[in-house]
Amino acid sequence: MIGSGYVGLVSGVCFADFGHDVTCVDKDVAKIEALNAGVVPIYEPGLSDLVGKNIRGGRLSFTTDLAGPVGEADAVFIAVGTPSRRGDGHADLTFVYSAARELARLVTGFTVVVTKSTVPVGTGDEVERIIREENPSADVAVASNPEFLREGAAISDFKRPDRIVVGADDARAREIMTEIYRPLYLNASPIQFTDRRTAELVKYAANAFLAMKITFINEIADLCEKVGADVQQVARGIGADGRIGGKFLHAGPGYGGSCFPKDTLALVKTAQDNDSPIRLIEATVAINDQRKRAMARKIIRACGGDVHGKAIAILGLTFKPNTDDMRDAPSLSIIQALQDGGAKIRAYDPVGIGQAKALLPNVTFCTSAYEAAEGASAVAIVTEWDEFRALDFDRLRSLVAEAVLVDLRNIYQPEEAVRQGFLYSSVGRAEKKVS
Ligand SMILES: NC(=O)c1ccc[n+]([C@@H]2O[C@H](COP(=O)([O-])OP(=O)(O)OC[C@H]3O[C@@H](n4cnc5c(N)ncnc54)[C@H](O)[C@@H]3O)[C@@H](O)[C@H]2O)c1
Repeated sequence: MIGSGYVGLVSGVCFADFGHDVTCVDKDVAKIEALNAGVVPIYEPGLSDLVGKNIRGGRLSFTTDLAGPVGEADAVFIAVGTPSRRGDGHADLTFVYSAARELARLVTGFTVVVTKSTVPVGTGDEVERIIREENPSADVAVASNPEFLREGAAISDFKRPDRIVVGADDARAREIMTEIYRPLYLNASPIQFTDRRTAELVKYAANAFLAMKITFINEIADLCEKVGADVQQVARGIGADGRIGGKFLHAGPGYGGSCFPKDTLALVKTAQDNDSPIRLIEATVAINDQRKRAMARKIIRACGGDVHGKAIAILGLTFKPNTDDMRDAPSLSIIQALQDGGAKIRAYDPVGIGQAKALLPNVTFCTSAYEAAEGASAVAIVTEWDEFRALDFDRLRSLVAEAVLVDLRNIYQPEEAVRQGFLYSSVGRAEKKVS
């Protein structure tokens, strides 16, 4: 497994847990040293125990050296990052191509090279070309096997996937991929075999669709606020329709994270380059970009239109609960916009502060929601961590400068927050004042 980040590490550990022999490789020496010392460098529920179990079982090891493991492998997975390229939004494939170049000379015997990173259509062709250029005698088949796991639920997603998509034309590659995933299913195989380009596109189409669904309900939420309707009820009313489905219909501050923002943008670019623009996703990207700062304006409005010199408590920094991942988290833009308005930010997150500190200058980081609330003119819930779902309102009220609660995740009922003495605003529901 080349790349031991959120995807490579979880995939490698889960494959080992199925009984396969796995070596996770990474260029990041500190990461590999930590893993070899039994310390998991990311926060993902259950991962630490599973890593320990499989190291002890002798099926899982970690190294910075590609040579040994690639020579022995039946399959080499590439699970390195594919961030947005600075400037134009295309996927930056530098890491994928350099991994392909590095592994090319090391393969022995028939080897399937599997791209697990999210990569634009046609990347597999280039990976194959690079390997053949570097080592014309290499006996390899290049397959695409996009990953659909969600951070925060990564292990169960990986072990119980809705489907496994494998893009490979080579029969030997299909056989090995079937064998690798066989422990995952008892009766019916969830593997969908496709050609390579189709598999590559499935991943972008899936993420773009989900991003569009979130954006749709966010725009309905804005309309709800204008016309006095309740977006939670609208979502329930439409989600009950099996053709629509209730998931990804939670209105909020806009999607973020390590995948949706970069993948929607990369799909837009691929589509434009192929003279087949996907306007729905172009609009989705633009709407979502504007939404985050709009959420800051919502907080400013709740504070009477001016936050200059005021302290604002931000509860939750990571892009979603149960991860420490801060990549493209809505909190980053929201905090920046509040700081632009002159606010002093007091922030708390259960596990994200370590990563957040590097990204958020001039923020006071606190050790609890209550410490963050001290002297605040508004408390804003930005990420719906479980520990924010039952806040002690009496305690909170005694700490804040003004009892203003802005709930960007709609985790409270407006009536309840008002009964507790707060001026309460949320997303897609009418603002409630203490009567
Ligand atoms: N994070 C998610 O939830 C998720 C879900 C599905 C798909 N993906 C996709 O999976 C890919 C990886 O994402 P991630 O979140 O795990 O990224 P990540 O940044 O957490 O991990 C990537 C790792 O690859 C290592 N690396 C880079 N080049 C290397 C090389 N040549 N040799 C060895 N190691 C190398 C880096 O040091 C890093 O540790 C991306 O394409 C992403 O879009 C991510």
